Amino acid sequence: NNYAIIMAGGIGSRFWPISRTSHPKQFIDILGTGKTLIQQTYDRFLKVCPKENIYVVTNEIYTDLVKTQLPDMADGQILTEPVMRNTAPCVAYGCFKIESLNPDAAIVIAPSDHLILDEQGFVNTIEKSLATASTHGCLVTLGIKPSRPDTGYGYIQYTDKIIDGDFHKVKTFTEKPTIEIAKTFIQSGDFLWNAGIFIWSAKAILESFKKYLPEINDIFADAKSVYNTTDEKPYIHNAYQQCTNISIDYGIMEKADNVYVLPSEFGWSDLGTWASIYQLAEKDYVGNAVIPAEKVIMYDSSNCMVNVPADKLVILKGLHDFIVVESNNTLLICPREDEQNVKKVVADVKQKF
Ligand code: GDD
Ligand code: MG
Repeated sequence: NNYAIIMAGGIGSRFWPISRTSHPKQFIDILGTGKTLIQQTYDRFLKVCPKENIYVVTNEIYTDLVKTQLPDMADGQILTEPVMRNTAPCVAYGCFKIESLNPDAAIVIAPSDHLILDEQGFVNTIEKSLATASTHGCLVTLGIKPSRPDTGYGYIQYTDKIIDGDFHKVKTFTEKPTIEIAKTFIQSGDFLWNAGIFIWSAKAILESFKKYLPEINDIFADAKSVYNTTDEKPYIHNAYQQCTNISIDYGIMEKADNVYVLPSEFGWSDLGTWASIYQLAEKDYVGNAVIPAEKVIMYDSSNCMVNVPADKLVILKGLHDFIVVESNNTLLICPREDEQNVKKVVADVKQKF
């Protein structure tokens, strides 16, 4: 009864200009491992459920990328969206469709663009969570011990009420707080980062949509008779336009009262920003991380994250705590502490070009 859904329709705009709308981060081998991030995600899930039970939800424009990178997936397992509506509709589509095939399904739904170093640890965590989610009909999320007041994450406040040995009842869930609030969360010590990986029974998540996102619920519940027929694609194509644009975190996780968190450790990084790559990358003695390093020369510069084409001669002098990234003939130079704003800058730049 175990199923997996891979969310792969985001554009990874904080990673611009390496990640582009036409070829976002999940389809890139960003760390040079030989496999793209979505391929790594798929391989991990092969250890959790049979390959027929793995689904990808993505934008129509990425269908060919998915087919090329995951050739084992049947067409019916690639669910496509005509427009971007953030993760709540994506979760709804995947979960309602799976429920129509198997009402007793237990589902893990995860981003397509994360790095997980300890695969076996991940597999054990997911198996345990699928079992708990099925038994208790709760929503399970995985919590990561926070290391800095990062405003790019959801923050989970947990309690001492525990089920199945390790799953803590969640008191509050706060998606992307301000820096001030993030700092108080870190100080208080009873908060974890939301890893963005959710585990639940199909029944439990469908209930939550009904309760907290009724408009989205209606759209996908009404589709019950068309799933897995030739009418599915045209129905979804039309219905998607009507979906509210909201993430699952704001739409359901902040509101639901049956959420449990499993504190987890499996070498997780969401590779969400240059800071996370910087943290993982090898650094020189003054904290510069340079990928690739051959033709980058630095004088009196420290704590910089540099990622430029291998054949480009780049010289930095007197630069501290900056991100310097070039790709697709676009150069971005930005203070490391400002990187969350790259998203806004990209939106602005896109209007102009
Ligand atoms: N199909 C589809 N459609 N997928 C989407 C869409 C969409 O419209 N938007 C985003 N995704 C995919 C992304 O490709 C990514 O794999 C995943 O959904 C999560 O979306 P992000 O946009 O990367 O979310 P986030 O990083 O800002 O925040 C989430 O993840 C954090 C951990 O990495 C939240 O769950 C946070 O609470 C969490 O801390
Ligand atoms: Mg993300």
